[in-house]
Amino acid sequence: MGVKVKCELLKKEELVTGIYKFSVKAPEIADTAKPGQFLEIQVSDTGEPFLRRPISIYNILKEEGIIEFIFQVKGKGTELLAKTDIGKSIDIMGPLGFGAFKVQEYNNVAIIGGGIGIYPLHELTKELKGKANLNVYLGFRDKSLVTCEKEFEEIGLNKLVVTTDDGSYKEKGFAIDFMKKDIEEHMVDMIFACGPLPMLKAVRQYAIENNIPCQISLEERMGCGIGACLGCAVKVISGKEPRYGHVCKEGPVFNAVDVEI
Ligand SMILES: Cc1cc2nc3c(=O)[nH]c(=O)nc-3n(C[C@H](O)[C@H](O)[C@H](O)COP(=O)(O)OP(=O)(O)OC[C@H]3O[C@@H](n4cnc5c(N)ncnc54)[C@H](O)[C@@H]3O)c2cc1C
Ligand code: FES
Repeated sequence: MGVKVKCELLKKEELVTGIYKFSVKAPEIADTAKPGQFLEIQVSDTGEPFLRRPISIYNILKEEGIIEFIFQVKGKGTELLAKTDIGKSIDIMGPLGFGAFKVQEYNNVAIIGGGIGIYPLHELTKELKGKANLNVYLGFRDKSLVTCEKEFEEIGLNKLVVTTDDGSYKEKGFAIDFMKKDIEEHMVDMIFACGPLPMLKAVRQYAIENNIPCQISLEERMGCGIGACLGCAVKVISGKEPRYGHVCKEGPVFNAVDVEI
């Protein structure tokens, strides 16, 4: 279920306006964390707001005992978090989520992310390096939100496609369309996806229609993050009878065929 630790903020960088990368000292978390898992972060030390905010793990540096995460300022919680000074400690629970991405040997995989959904895919891509040919598709709304292109490139990929909806940077259009075109030429044996719901719905539908195994990470809105509040229900359709499961406990990663979104 993860541990609750006070982690020193070692490094802080504003990658583009409103998107911050934090590096924290967290050996207890780095030790067991897997790609696709997330952290529940207390955004201030005043106890306000009460609820922790879920943020995915972007990078695990096991040997150094460091965890990195990247977040976009959306509301009060992330705004407060962004104000944390270097050297201060942050109360973090993690790693959370029993459903992480399943990493094994594959032939060819497609990894597709949209917006803030690209961040958990970085650690996944690192872990898949050497186990599969990696084609990565990163979609952003516009140029002002493009981050981490170089970091993905440096992992050593077969192909990296960066798209913007409005064409203000690199390819114009939706990342999924570029992925589909490549898959028509070279079949993949797994698709990994994380991003906004409309993107995930489209990827899931495409994977099911084309019989391609697919793992999706559902970054639904969460409350407690530990299965106690029902704030993250998802319809699970893998058993005999459909039922509601918790994204925070059973996920956030699910096989696309197992959930209805
Ligand atoms: C498992 C998981 C992993 C996540 N990983 C990341 C990450 O790596 N980087 C990152 O930037 N964000 C991530 N998020 C989203 C992040 O948790 C929210 O943006 C954050 O909680 C908003 O808090 P706030 O107090 O700033 O905003 P609030 O005041 O709570 O909300 C402000 C606005 O943000 C929207 N919002 C709130 N939660 C979400 C959400 N889950 N998805 C989309 N919009 C939301 C609200 O609808 C509202 O419009 C993740 C969410 C989950 C559930
Ligand atoms: S967030 Fe509370 S049950 Fe999942």
